[in-house]
Amino acid sequence: MKVLHIDSSINGQQSVSRQLSAAIVRRLREANTGASVAYRDVVADPVPQSSGMAGSSPLLDEFLAADVVVIGAPMYNFGVPSQLKAWLDTLAVAGVTFSYGASGPQGLCGGKRIIVASSRGGIYSAPSPAAGMDHQESYLSSFFGFLGAQIEFIRAEGVGMGDEQRQRAMDSAFAAAGALQAA
Ligand SMILES: Cc1cc2nc3c(=O)[nH]c(=O)nc-3n(C[C@H](O)[C@H](O)[C@H](O)COP(=O)(O)O)c2cc1C
Repeated sequence: MKVLHIDSSINGQQSVSRQLSAAIVRRLREANTGASVAYRDVVADPVPQSSGMAGSSPLLDEFLAADVVVIGAPMYNFGVPSQLKAWLDTLAVAGVTFSYGASGPQGLCGGKRIIVASSRGGIYSAPSPAAGMDHQESYLSSFFGFLGAQIEFIRAEGVGMGDEQRQRAMDSAFAAAGALQAA
């Protein structure tokens, strides 16, 4: 099994999503002893902003080669970090990851499993009244759904709402990471 591990937090070692994505990858390695892991930090090693139609690239090849993609994705200003957006912009390539035909769009990434380590200062999960302001998880769901991939979220939310809520959120997210099943 090939794992691609992406991190996009600007918060270095303190980052919740980095700690969580690392725990997810650790668990996947435990469950699949033969797994190989490629790592990409889109903050330390920024992806250039797209300046035209996305096409074939080493980043796309790396994504296509992965069976499982683990993405550390914090919520910044209700969306994903711009560094992560720049990486995503390299992946939507007509004829490679999706196609348009007579019956509309078709995702071509059917076999791929995406696991998102999501972190956010507030609470957006339904029935939160702020659910409509979540353009982070909803965007990632739409994006990878469009490509036909399976996406799941392991979430630490409300981490900015005091020590108690932060601890609860972290405990529950790390427990979910530890309970992940192999592909
Ligand atoms: C630049 C920036 C923007 C943020 N915007 C939001 C936001 O819109 N909504 C929210 O709930 N939290 C927001 N936060 C809080 C982060 O989502 C929270 O601290 C989360 O843990 C960040 O993940 P990280 O620790 O992996 O960087 C923001 C934090 C930063 C640094």
